[in-house]
Order: sequence, then C-alpha cells, then structure tokens
Amino acid sequence: MSEQTAMRSKSRRILVGAVLVLVAAMVVPLTGYVYVAVAQPQIETAADWQETNPRSEYWREVRQGTEGYSAVKGPAADVLIDNGGQIFRQIRNGPISTFGPWVLAIMLLGVAGMFVLSGGGQKVEKPLSGKRVPRWSAYVRVVHWIMAIAFLLLLITGLSLLFGRAVLIPLLGAEGFSAWAITAKYIHNFTGPVFAVTLVLLVLSMLRDNLPSKVDVDWFLKGGFAGKHVPTGKLNAGEKLWFWFNAVGGLVVAVSGVVLILPNIFEARSTMQLALLVHAGLALLYIGGSFVHMYMGTLGARGALDAITKGHVSSEWAEQHHDLWYHEVKKDGEEFVSDEDDARSNREMPATGSGSTA
Ligand code: HEM
Repeated sequence: MSEQTAMRSKSRRILVGAVLVLVAAMVVPLTGYVYVAVAQPQIETAADWQETNPRSEYWREVRQGTEGYSAVKGPAADVLIDNGGQIFRQIRNGPISTFGPWVLAIMLLGVAGMFVLSGGGQKVEKPLSGKRVPRWSAYVRVVHWIMAIAFLLLLITGLSLLFGRAVLIPLLGAEGFSAWAITAKYIHNFTGPVFAVTLVLLVLSMLRDNLPSKVDVDWFLKGGFAGKHVPTGKLNAGEKLWFWFNAVGGLVVAVSGVVLILPNIFEARSTMQLALLVHAGLALLYIGGSFVHMYMGTLGARGALDAITKGHVSSEWAEQHHDLWYHEVKKDGEEFVSDEDDARSNREMPATGSGSTA
C-alpha cells in the first residue's frame, strides 16, 4: 500500500468515527422518549402511581372538601378547596348566563307576536260615553308605581352585573365597566329593600281581588289567554297568575337578595351560592314575565293604563274586559261619573266665601 493510500484510509476512518460520534451524540438523548413511550404506561398503573406520587391521596381528600386545621375561625374556614364553588361557577356561567338571554329574547318576541296577531293591541270596541268606573285606590296606585320603578332599576342594574363582562366590557372598556358595576351594585343593594317592602304592601292590598275562583278555570279552558272574550270578574286568570308569581316568586327573589347582602349573617359559602343561583334564575323569569305585563298594561289592552294611573277605567273598557265585575259594580248601585258630570257639579256648587267668619 503506498503512503498516499494509507493516509487516505486513515482520514476516512477519522471522518467515519467523527460522524458516528456526532450521530450518537444526537440519538442517545432521544432514547428518553422511548423510555417515556414504552416504560411509563407500565409505571402508571394505580399501584405504581401510589408509589411515585404518595401525596396524591392527600390532595384527593382536600378536593373532596375534607377539613384540615386553620387558625382562622368561621364556617368552612378549615376547608382548603371548596368543590361546591366549582359547581356553582359552572351553573352561573353555564345555563344561567347562556339560557337567560334566550328567555328574555323569546318573551320579547312573544310580546311582538301578540301585538301583530291582535292587529296592534286590543282596542275598546264600543264608542266611549265618557262614563267611568272606579278601579284602584290612590294608595294601591302609589305602591304599584314605587314598586314598578324599583323593579326597573333592579332589572337594569341586575342584568348589568350578570352579563356585564360579556356585553358591557366590549362597549365601555374594563375601566368604564368597573365604574358602572360599582354604581350598579350600590343602586341594586339599596333599591332591593324598597322593592321588597312595596311588594309585600301591594300583595296585601290586592290579595282579596286575586283569590282564585271557578271563573278562572273557565278563562283558561275557553282560551281567554289567547285573547278570546271569556266572562271575568275584577281580574282575569292571567292577571291573577301574574299576581301570584309576584307574591311567591317575587318574595323568593327578595329573600334570596337579602341573604346576598348580609354575608356576615349568612356566612356559609354554600348558602350564598344557592341564594345567588335562585336569585338570578328566578329574576330572569320575573323579568320575562314583566315584559308581558308591561305590554298588556299599555298597548296590549288599550285603556287599562288608566286603571293604575288615574284609578278608574271607562265603563266600556270595564264591560268589555271584566263584564262580571262591571255588572256587579253596577248592581251595587255605583254611580258612574264622567268629566262632564264633574264639571256640572262644580258649576252647580254654591260659591263659598273666602273670608268666612267662622
Ligand atoms: C311600565 C310598567 C308597568 C305598567 C305599564 C303596568 C301596568 C299595570 C296596570 C295597568 C295594572 C292594572 C291592571 C288592571 O287593572 O286590570 C297593573 C297591575 C299590577 N302590576 Fe303593573 N305595570 C307596570 C310594571 C309593573 C311591574 C314592574 C310589576 C312587578 C314587578 C307590576 C306588578 C303589578 C301587579 C302585581 C299588579 C296587580 C295585577 C293583579 O292583581 O293581577 N307592574 N299594572
């Protein structure tokens, strides 16, 4: 072998050796993946896992809400992880936040449908004579309107707090929403008790007129809810249903709201979580119902608004919507008066001297 050939063979061996070292240097670390892929599943059987992670049972117990020790005293202060909070968060951000807007949208569409199908709301069919029938006292009307205004404030602020993150942050920005959320929370907290008190007063003052009767069953069976004329007393079954929803549902919303503003008294987290779910869920149904009520009180049954603003309705409206009540009031000898009668009796009143010497 010539010297030149020997040199070439030596440098080839060095090159091959260098390449082998390089390849080995790159491949050997990759064997870790082979270990993970092949060996690890065998280790991860339940028993092996115990050995490799002896603290897992401990954390599993913590997750179950098992109590430990804390120097802080109070309900659930010894519980490190509150599992109920996770369930609460899933319901609040799941069904309530997802289906809530749908409930409201469906009710609004329903109201729009009623308006269209009734040809722009029910109008009084007979020409108005000007005679009127007394319906609600001044006391009932004042209580109704304080409660209604409180309800509308609670509606605006409550929906802002429930859907604000999704709807208002994109519109107002994080800082703008933060300022509004704090204001909304204060308005909500202070208006709630006003609503609760006026609700109780209204329920007590209207209770007698809303007691169920056989006529109410007929109203449902004969399609009164679909706008058909079915004989009714002072309030029809639909109105009574709204009253009882207020009396029961409204009170539950109010009581759960009181629980929420008194965390120092109702300290347990589970109580607060349940109160919030009941409060928000029922309030959404209440708001949906109020859309129908507000529509019926204004455009749905033309002339009804006079009942709760002026305290009386036209005798034609009374006969058309509440015939049994109308005939009863008439039979009782109630004298129906009109603006003309008022004007006439004012003219006929003897002038009273302003400087009387009593
Ligand atoms: C703009 C809003 C509202 C309007 C126009 C309105 C209109 C009326 C009218 C016209 C009546 C008398 C019905 C009749 O005499 O046949 C009435 C009664 C009543 N309203 Fe309202 N209302 C409004 C808001 C509210 C709200 C927000 C609530 C509850 C949170 C409410 C609860 C009631 C209740 C419980 C009655 C008694 C009805 C019954 O006994 O069936 N109202 N409203």
